[in-house]
Amino acid sequence: MAADDLLHWRPEFPILANSVYLVSHSLGAMPRRTRDRLAEYADTWATRGVRAWAEGWWELPRTVGDLIGRIIGAGPGEVVMHQNQSIAQATVLSSFDWRGPRNGIVTERLNFPSNLYLFHALEHEGARLVTVESDDGLTVPLDRLLAAIDETTRLVSVSHVVFKSAFVQDIAAVIRRAHDVGALVLVDLYQSAGTLPVNVRALRADFATGGSVKWLCGGPGAGYLYVRRDHWETLRPRLTGWMAHRDPFAFEDRPIDYAEDAYRFLNGSPNVPALYAARSGYEIVGEIGVEAIRAKSVRQTQHLIALADAAGIRVAGPREPAHRGGTVTLDVASGHAIASALAARDVLVDYRPGAGIRVSPHFYTSSEELDAFIGELTRAIETQAGRPTTASTSAAY
Ligand SMILES: Cc1ncc(COP(=O)(O)O)c(C=O)c1O
Repeated sequence: MAADDLLHWRPEFPILANSVYLVSHSLGAMPRRTRDRLAEYADTWATRGVRAWAEGWWELPRTVGDLIGRIIGAGPGEVVMHQNQSIAQATVLSSFDWRGPRNGIVTERLNFPSNLYLFHALEHEGARLVTVESDDGLTVPLDRLLAAIDETTRLVSVSHVVFKSAFVQDIAAVIRRAHDVGALVLVDLYQSAGTLPVNVRALRADFATGGSVKWLCGGPGAGYLYVRRDHWETLRPRLTGWMAHRDPFAFEDRPIDYAEDAYRFLNGSPNVPALYAARSGYEIVGEIGVEAIRAKSVRQTQHLIALADAAGIRVAGPREPAHRGGTVTLDVASGHAIASALAARDVLVDYRPGAGIRVSPHFYTSSEELDAFIGELTRAIETQAGRPTTASTSAAY
């Protein structure tokens, strides 16, 4: 097999020295240089004090957003940073009046629960929620999703890659259908950006949201929001704050006069330390390029499926690369206990009820680690089979 050039990144990720890290769909590994970035944040605060705002902190939602823009195909200034993905979605949702006849929100049962909670809350404001069902709990039939979108739909909000199963949705088809009937589309890119190429401009997506915790290796506290430029002038989010004002330092006490640029979609002060922490992961993913990450991911996830087949372990999610993101989902009994047993042996994966154990190679994963993982998993399954089943109630990220 050809040499794997991406393995030269391994020393940049300290946790790889002592664990088999297959959980980047949940928390990407921390780049070594993130520690320096956080020290830079502390030094800046310590030495520059309040001057730091004018010297870069105020601009962080945009300068860091530009690093994401490069990864998802947005133009400069078109992505702004929030504290998490849920806030970014809520900002978009707060821009519409849900009382008129065009009050439909079309979504899918497998959308991330945080988003679904937000949509349900809007039912109190007049929104009519249409939730497209999944037959198998892992995939969403495209024809059913497209058929649910009609002239009463205001917004379609779907994930590009389903978090439980890594099922890839045909976002281009959804956007085409929505635009044909005058609806807008909000795409959750959390499980795709950084592992699956995506270009929001080419797709003509109206809105896109995501965060840093997973494939982008940016750590917690940094979500992002893309809004297509031609919507900037008309959208007035009710979830707002002084950073969204045209002239925030005028401290006006009247209804907000929105900024003309993407700052109109911000609210209060940014999460400065998280934005320092997030940069390194984005820079590395941007430098490697998502095409190269995807090529390796397809190779390794196919290999993982072959190893699972050989070991007699059922693959729950999509088997064909075109329908699968960066994660392979394996259906094993007592999945939570198995994931915990593997973690105790420094093999890191996770478990989602109704789907299975989620296993994700990333650009820093070696093929030896996949072999080691299958060996450990087989042993854990055998050990577990010899034990009485116990229900686990402990929280698991
Ligand atoms: C697809 C998807 N959307 C949203 C989230 C959550 O986003 P946040 O916690 O930033 O609101 C996750 C995972 O945590 C996810 O997998």
